[in-house]
Amino acid sequence: MCGIVGYLGEKDAEKIIIEGLKKLEYRGYDSAGLACKIGDSVKILKCKGRLSNLEELFEKDPSSAPIAIGHTRWATHGEPSDVNSHPHFNSSKKIAVVHNGIIENYHSIKTELIQKGVKFVSETDTEVIPHLIDSFYDGDLLAAVQKAVRLLRGSFAIAVISADSDEIVAARKESPLVIGVGDGDYYVASDVLAALSYTKRFYYPENGDVIRISKKNGIEIFDASGNAVVREEKYVNISADAATKCGYDHFMLKEINEQPDACANTILRYCYDNNISLDLKNIKDLSRYNKIYIVACGTAYHAGLIGKIAIEKYFKIPVTVDIASEFRYYSPFVDDRSIVILISQSGETADTLAALRNSKEAGAYVLSITNVVGSTVARESDDVITTIAGPEIAVASTKAFTTQVVALFLVALYFGRISGNISDSQFDECMDELEKIPEKVREVLKNTDIIKQEAMHIKDYDQLFYIGRGCDRVIGMEGALKLKEISYIYTEAFPAGEMKHGPIALIQKDTPAIAIITQKDLAEKTISNIKELKARGAYVIAIASEITEELEKTVDKIIPVPEAFGILVAVPAILPCQLLAYYASIFRGNDVDKPRNLAKSVTVE
Ligand code: F6R
Repeated sequence: MCGIVGYLGEKDAEKIIIEGLKKLEYRGYDSAGLACKIGDSVKILKCKGRLSNLEELFEKDPSSAPIAIGHTRWATHGEPSDVNSHPHFNSSKKIAVVHNGIIENYHSIKTELIQKGVKFVSETDTEVIPHLIDSFYDGDLLAAVQKAVRLLRGSFAIAVISADSDEIVAARKESPLVIGVGDGDYYVASDVLAALSYTKRFYYPENGDVIRISKKNGIEIFDASGNAVVREEKYVNISADAATKCGYDHFMLKEINEQPDACANTILRYCYDNNISLDLKNIKDLSRYNKIYIVACGTAYHAGLIGKIAIEKYFKIPVTVDIASEFRYYSPFVDDRSIVILISQSGETADTLAALRNSKEAGAYVLSITNVVGSTVARESDDVITTIAGPEIAVASTKAFTTQVVALFLVALYFGRISGNISDSQFDECMDELEKIPEKVREVLKNTDIIKQEAMHIKDYDQLFYIGRGCDRVIGMEGALKLKEISYIYTEAFPAGEMKHGPIALIQKDTPAIAIITQKDLAEKTISNIKELKARGAYVIAIASEITEELEKTVDKIIPVPEAFGILVAVPAILPCQLLAYYASIFRGNDVDKPRNLAKSVTVE
């Protein structure tokens, strides 16, 4: 995690760094800092806590520098503290470094440097980098960085400045890094969002690249062997507004409300004339594949569990869904007859990336579903489906989930059609139903009063249960993740029929439980399970599209959601869960967009 930014040009570099860091706070927010070049020295301002603390420091000690680098941190080595904040200096305080990633061999490098007399001040892995660069430095910063990064194991995106030169040297391995080209000025960042207000022209350096940026020579890129290389400049068509709240109180609320458009745009991207085109250029004849793995983390994993139902139905091939951090260490049957579908909003999640590489090594065809064009997962996959959700900034994922479900539904239909397992009339019906989804999401958004009321009710409880069957069970799992991560209410989701095998022991008078009921054929069964909870005193809210008299008699409250076709019902039905979590979090006084201990992009194992 962590976000890095750099600027070189005529503008006020520190202000640009602070503005850029604001856009990257989703990557970590336990401390922040910047380093700028002033005359022949480098000045560092850094402190523990939110970026506003750094802004206060800057206001007390402003300067106007042409070159600066900055960092917003999610602690990995060493607690959040002033001294562990980035940037880090070498001993003479002439070389400053910001870093995103983890240096796995920092301990051995540190031991060696200490033996040579270097004194360390922080507990971070990062601090070895400026000292290592210093040990190679003879006036040529680029050469010193090149030598230093060759010794680093792990993941890193770094930006380095030195008191002796007017340049920024950056490097990347595994962690994301983009270089923006402005009007005679240059930007370095973990994500284009940090520089989108100034430019839409970006380079995406490859693994191992080292980049030198200077007024004199502009951008020079060198590959891992030190050869000068040319990387393609890309135009990023995202509005700078995408990274602002546009009048909403929180990014999460904005992103929840963007879901009708996000789903519509994802459908429009791949569907035309009642057909689907996924542009899968590298897949072989479908008949050669005998199994599919869907691999992801967190919310994306839940989307995968829902996608499995549709893919098995339409493509008629067994699908295993696994969590990337497990799959990367145990996936013995992946081979060249496997399709591995990776789902990742950010496209940078370390475990998902490792799963991708293992799968490729095992000969599988790797298809990724990501929301970030040019992300590492996107670049390394055989083919990519991009969800058109726009940047997701709030830590709790919302629009990424619904667009991932849409994308998986498209994959299921596409494979179903090509393999001849789905008839034309079935296909047409699915396409018609898919088109209605954005409107159904809008419908849920029009009626949020009852959701707010129920959020007010549950906010005072310390535990809560979701129950459901089939697709409803997975909607509950995602609802539970949302609630625990932003409201901090301990929430677990159970298959409705499983409660009586143990978890029902936790139900007492007024224990809140939420039942999801969208599957006609399973509704009665779930209602029986609700009765078992009611008999033990539970307060039961139903999120339901199947509203029968029996249900009305049984539960305490019903939050209605529109009926929808097959797995697509997960799209409107997740909205009340997202909003319940949002409002419960607000009512408990939490920081919705930046929940404790979390960061948006998990680029460490
Ligand atoms: C939960 C959430 C996380 C992510 C997970 C995977 O709201 O956001 O569970 O879904 O960290 O992230 P990506 O999709 O970027 O790989």
